[in-house]
Amino acid sequence: MSNRSRRRFLQFATIGAAGAIAGNAHSPEGSPTSSSVINLPFAPLNPRLGMIGTGGRGTELLKNFLGADVQVNALCDIVSEKAENARTLVEKAGQKQPVLYTKGDYAFEGLISREDIDLIVIATPWRWHTTMAVAALKQGKHVAIEVPAATTLEECWKLVDTSEATRRHCIMLENCCYGYNETLILGMVRAGMFGDLLYGEAAYLHDLREELFSNKGEGLWRRTVHTERDGNLYPTHGLGPVANYMGINRGDRFDYLVSMSTPAKGLAEYRSSHVPKDDPKWQERYITGDMNTSLIKTANGLTINLQHDVSNPHPYDRLNAIAGTKGIFRDYPPRIYFDEQPGGEEWGSIDQYKERFEHPLWNREGEIARKLGGHGGMDYLECYRLVECMRQGLPPDMDVYDAASWSAPGPLSQASIASGSAPVKFPDFTRGRWKERKGSTIAGAVA
Ligand SMILES: NC(=O)c1ccc[n+]([C@@H]2O[C@H](COP(=O)([O-])OP(=O)(O)OC[C@H]3O[C@@H](n4cnc5c(N)ncnc54)[C@H](O)[C@@H]3O)[C@@H](O)[C@H]2O)c1
Repeated sequence: MSNRSRRRFLQFATIGAAGAIAGNAHSPEGSPTSSSVINLPFAPLNPRLGMIGTGGRGTELLKNFLGADVQVNALCDIVSEKAENARTLVEKAGQKQPVLYTKGDYAFEGLISREDIDLIVIATPWRWHTTMAVAALKQGKHVAIEVPAATTLEECWKLVDTSEATRRHCIMLENCCYGYNETLILGMVRAGMFGDLLYGEAAYLHDLREELFSNKGEGLWRRTVHTERDGNLYPTHGLGPVANYMGINRGDRFDYLVSMSTPAKGLAEYRSSHVPKDDPKWQERYITGDMNTSLIKTANGLTINLQHDVSNPHPYDRLNAIAGTKGIFRDYPPRIYFDEQPGGEEWGSIDQYKERFEHPLWNREGEIARKLGGHGGMDYLECYRLVECMRQGLPPDMDVYDAASWSAPGPLSQASIASGSAPVKFPDFTRGRWKERKGSTIAGAVA
C-alpha cells in the first residue's frame, strides 16, 4: 500500500467491536435524511444520450446504443480523433451530427450541462468515473458508468448520496449480468433448482499483459494502477452475476471480506522480455499481487471466492459458479450437476435447460444481440434493457447500491491486505433496505 492510499484507508477505517475493520466512510448508514432510490421508476422518456470517453469501450457501447435506436446528441473525449471517429458512427446510423467536446480534462462539464441529454454514459479511465458521474447527477442526468464505478469507499458513498439527493439513477454497466449463461442460471436459481444457496465463485482471470504494456488504449492508464494498489482491481465482472444469483441487496448483502495476494511478478517478468531497456516503463514498480483471492461472507452466511489476475498466462475465466443444497453450476466451460442426475457423478450439459430457462431478454432480443456481437451479445442486451426501462418508466435492473456494493471489494481488499488479511466490513449502502427488497435484478427473472 502506498503512503497515499494508506492515509486514505486510515481516514475511513475504524476497528469495530467484533474485531473486523468497518469501512463506513463519511455517510452514516441509516441516515434519517436519506431517501432511498431502491425501486424508483424512471420518469418514462425516450432517452437522449451523451457519452464521455470514446475509446475502445465507449465506441463499442455507442454501437450498441445506436443498435437500440438511441439518439446521441453529444460526445466527449480529450483526444479529438476519438470523438470524431465516434461521431462518424452516429452519422452512419442516420442521425444528425452530435456536438463534440474535446478541449481538456473538464470538457465533459459542457456536455453534462446540455438540456437535450437525459442519459450520460461514462467510459473513461477509472479515476474519472465518480467525478464525472457525480457532476452529471447534479446536472439532473441519469448516469451509466463503466466498471468499476468507484475505486474507494468514499467514492462509493458519494455515488449513493448523490443519486439519492438528486433522485437520478446511477447504474454501473456490468454487462456480464446479461450474459447468456448468467441469465439462464439466474432463472434456474430463482426457480429453486439449486435448493438453498451456499456458495459462489467469481473472478476476472484475463491475460492483459500485452494490452497493459501497449502504448495506446488501456496501456496509457491501466498499468499505472498496478504501481499504486495491492488488491482486487477489477471485481465486478465475476461478482455482479453471482450477486444476482444470491439476491445481494435483495434479501441478503455482502457483510465482510478477507483478502490476500500472491507476490507481484508477472508484469515485471513480461517487461523484461518485451520492453526495451531505455523505455520509461522500466522506472515503474508493480505492487498489485498477481493473484488476489478474497473471500466474501454475506449476511445470510453464504460465501463467495472472488479472484483477480490479469498479469499471467491464463485462459479467460470468470469462474461464475453457484452451488446449493440441490446442485451446482460451474462455467468455463459451462457444466452442471444436480442431485441424482443421470450418469452418476459426471457433469451434465446446460443445453438441456435452455428451452425451459432461456432468459426472456435473450429469447426476444437474442438475434440482434448476437449480430451486434459485443461479448457474445450481452453488451447489446445491457444497453437495450437500460433504455427499455427508461422508455417504459420502470426501475432499472441494477442501481447505485449495486454499483457501490460490487465496486467496494476493490478498496476493501486493499484494506484487508494492508492489515494482514483481517476481516473488513462492507458498508450497508442500502442503509438497511436490503431486507425489504426481494427477488433479483434483470428483467423477467424476478420470482
Ligand atoms: N464492461 C466491459 O466489458 C469493459 C471492457 C473494456 C473496458 N471497460 C471499462 O471501460 C472504461 C474505458 O476503458 P477503455 O478500454 O475504453 O479505455 P480507453 O483508454 O480505450 O478509452 C478511454 C477513453 O477516455 C478518454 N478520456 C480520458 N480522460 C478523459 C477525460 N477527462 N474526458 C474525456 N475523455 C477522457 C481517453 O482519451 C480514451 O479515449 C474503463 O472503465 C474500463 O474498465 C469495460
